[in-house]
Amino acid sequence: MVTHDAVSVDEVSGDRRAPSENDSTLARMRDRWRRFAREDALHYVAANREGWDEAAFYGMGRDLAEEVIAWAGDGLGRRRMLEIGCGAGRMLVHFAPHFERVEGIDIAPEMVERARKHVPENVHLCVGTGATLDRFEDESVDLIFSVQVFQHIPDRAVISAYINECGRVLRQGGRAVLQFDSRPNALARRLALRLPDALLPRDHRRYIRRYPVPPGWPVAIGAAAGLSLLDERGPGTHDHLVLFERPRV
Ligand SMILES: C[S@@+](CC[C@H](N)C(=O)[O-])C[C@H]1O[C@@H](n2cnc3c(N)ncnc32)[C@H](O)[C@@H]1O
Repeated sequence: MVTHDAVSVDEVSGDRRAPSENDSTLARMRDRWRRFAREDALHYVAANREGWDEAAFYGMGRDLAEEVIAWAGDGLGRRRMLEIGCGAGRMLVHFAPHFERVEGIDIAPEMVERARKHVPENVHLCVGTGATLDRFEDESVDLIFSVQVFQHIPDRAVISAYINECGRVLRQGGRAVLQFDSRPNALARRLALRLPDALLPRDHRRYIRRYPVPPGWPVAIGAAAGLSLLDERGPGTHDHLVLFERPRV
C-alpha cells in the first residue's frame, strides 16, 4: 500500500468554500459535458475505446459494482443507492439488482437522457446543479458511489461540496465509495494546463483531462464532513478509492 502524509482540516479550509450555482466553472463544466455527450457520450465516459458497441459498454461495470458491494460490507442497507456523475448509466444498470431504489445524478442532461434508455424501472435519474445533492433528503441514502467524475473537476471546492453533501445525505451507518486521481501532479501535466485546448488531443482538453488531488485530501475533507474512513485502495494512483462511513450516533 502507498503511504501518504495526512492533510489537516486547516490545510484544506480554502477548498471548502461553497461553490455558487452561478459559478462560471460549473457553467463551463456543464456546457463542456453537454458537448461531450452530444459528440460521443460513450467514448467520453470510457475513453479507452473509440466506437463503443453498446452491449460491451453496458457490460463493463458488473465486476466493479459487485466489488463495491462486497467492499462496502455486510451491514450495508439496501433501500437506496445514489451515483454522482452517473453518465450514460453503465454502473447504474449493475447496481439496480442490489437495491430497492437507485438514483443517478449528472450535470449533463444529454448523459441522463442516454442513461434513461438503458436503466431498469427502479433507477431514477436527474440533472443536478453540478455541486449539490439538493434533491435528496438528509439521511436518506445507504450507499453513495462515484467513479471517474471528481478526477475531471478542476475546482476542489466543487468536490468538497459533494463530499459535504455525502455527509448530509447518507443514513447513519451508510457508506460512500468515491474515486479520486491522487497521483503526484507532474510538471508536464501542469504545463499542459497552460496550453489552449485546441493544441491538445481531444481526451486531454479541459474538463475531460484529470486534475489530481493530494492523496490525503479526500480523507481530510471527509473528516470535516463527519465521514469516517473505513478503508482505501490505491492512494497515490489514478484509481484511488476511498470507503467512507457516516458513523451511527
Ligand atoms: C467520465 S464520465 C463517467 C460516468 C460514470 N461515472 C461512469 O463511470 O460510467 C464523467 C461524468 O461525470 C459527469 N460530471 C462531470 N462533472 C460533474 C459534476 N460537477 N456533477 C455531476 N456530474 C458531473 C459528466 O457529465 C459525465 O457524465
